[in-house]
Amino acid sequence: MSWNGSFALASSPKVVFGSGKLAALPGLVQHWGKKVLLVTGGKSLPESARWPNLLAQLESAGIEWRQYTVSGEPSPMVVDRAVEQYREEGMEVVVGIGGGSVLDAAKAIAAMFCETVSVKRFLEGVGDRKPSGKTLPFIAVPTTAGTGSEATKNAVLSEVGEDGFKKSLRHEQYVPAVALIDPHLMLSCPTHISAYSGMDAFTQLLESYLSTQASWYTDALALDGLGCIADSLQRVVEQGEDLIAREKMAYAAYLSGLSLANAGLGTIHGFASSVGARIAIPHGALCGTLMGISNRLTVEKLQQEDIAWKKYEQVGRMFVTARGKSAEYYITGLLERIEEWIQSFELPRLSQFGLQMAEIPNIAAATSNKFNPVQLTEEERIFILQTRL
Ligand SMILES: [Fe+2]
Repeated sequence: MSWNGSFALASSPKVVFGSGKLAALPGLVQHWGKKVLLVTGGKSLPESARWPNLLAQLESAGIEWRQYTVSGEPSPMVVDRAVEQYREEGMEVVVGIGGGSVLDAAKAIAAMFCETVSVKRFLEGVGDRKPSGKTLPFIAVPTTAGTGSEATKNAVLSEVGEDGFKKSLRHEQYVPAVALIDPHLMLSCPTHISAYSGMDAFTQLLESYLSTQASWYTDALALDGLGCIADSLQRVVEQGEDLIAREKMAYAAYLSGLSLANAGLGTIHGFASSVGARIAIPHGALCGTLMGISNRLTVEKLQQEDIAWKKYEQVGRMFVTARGKSAEYYITGLLERIEEWIQSFELPRLSQFGLQMAEIPNIAAATSNKFNPVQLTEEERIFILQTRL
């Protein structure tokens, strides 16, 4: 692995970040129009006291709104149904307010208002068409600190089952027009979702930092984000009402989206596609549960002179307080911390979502190492899945 000193930057959204910034939403919508489709999750936000306030603010700004609810990981059908339902209403702006699944669904809906066939036709590795890149202006308002979808140009859609898939709709123009990140919205995020989404952000930062496509630019983003994870992930899981910890995690999640968009990811996100196509497991739970064993096998295959070895040491220094120790000490400390979190955050085993031992070889064979710093063999990928079955 060699140092990658040349890079190109993907476009990034306008960012409005800060507690209480949800109040800026009507003004941002008005910039593009008066008719907005609000894509939300089914539970916490629409049931909160904040929701009627937001709708009242939109109405007093003269904005007409419609609401479309998404639950679970989004499928092409969920996207197509929204477009069918609201196409004739002349929507001018789409706002996604929710976790990563809601943001991905909303991003795809905004784009598909400008296409005439099912979104499935545009999915990488599934469809037969390339997206035009046309999209309605899309404002992403994350309510979890996780996928970083508010920073990226892709939306992941899936159909689960024997012939299932979990694939991206992707175009440079699909980067949200605005990422409105209000950590105050995350205060009420349930414990297990804070844990799952936080482990997703952690995986994305670590994988993009270690990626063979990493650059000076992405290293800076990823390292800053990993510092926030070391500082605040456990805190948001154990004390969800800590606003400063929520702010740091919201920032880490945004950075994880930016760094993955520019550096790519590793084997764990390879499993996110292959396992995610077979069982309906929340993305963050899958990444988190595989994080310990996958990183251990990757570390075992590295040489001490590899850049990735040095990077593991550098990250370990963020997670271990002792000073003046060896590289092995810090790397071991990082791997132990990951294992501790898998235990204490109660990350699920794959069998809890119905994965069977007999399915593992086929899934492992279909798993990409992406830009992992070392190539894990098919046997090693089988071992990873068996370890967390
Ligand atoms: Fe992810």
